Amino acid sequence: MFSQKLQDAINEQINAEYYSAYMYLAMSAWLEERDFPGFAHWMRLQYEEEVVHALKFFDFMVERDAHIELKAIAAPPSDYKSVLDVFERTLAHEQHVTSLINNLYQLALEEGDYPSQVLLQWFINEQVEEEKNARDAIAQLRHVGDSGVGLIMLDREMATRQPSPEVTGQNAAA
Ligand code: FEO
Repeated sequence: MFSQKLQDAINEQINAEYYSAYMYLAMSAWLEERDFPGFAHWMRLQYEEEVVHALKFFDFMVERDAHIELKAIAAPPSDYKSVLDVFERTLAHEQHVTSLINNLYQLALEEGDYPSQVLLQWFINEQVEEEKNARDAIAQLRHVGDSGVGLIMLDREMATRQPSPEVTGQNAAA
């Protein structure tokens, strides 16, 4: 039995994933405005990944005949101090999302809901990757500093990020 409590919590998580998407899109816009097309591209892909995350929960709810309730998405911050600030906020946000996913997993254990546990194991792994990506970017930004030619080179490197297979699959299906 898919408990109401767990369904409510997953509805909240759908909203949290869309907020993440919206936040990364805002960051992408900020980076575009400051002529960092590579960092902006990286954040745009991050946005697309978050939409895939939201849809993973959405499709899971559909498959289990649950009630889906889409809530209002809060406005993300629109101004940042620097490129480094953008990525530091990304890491802090992903650490927050990790705690949300861990709490959901704990609830799925308490409710004895095995399908949710399987789904959430995918997200637990994904969060390890998400935090690593942000930490790696922060480390590189600290090496090159927040201006100058090093930052331009790093911007070019960020432009090479490829969409994950899940994002490609999602686009193909759309
Ligand atoms: Fe959906 Fe970036 O976690």
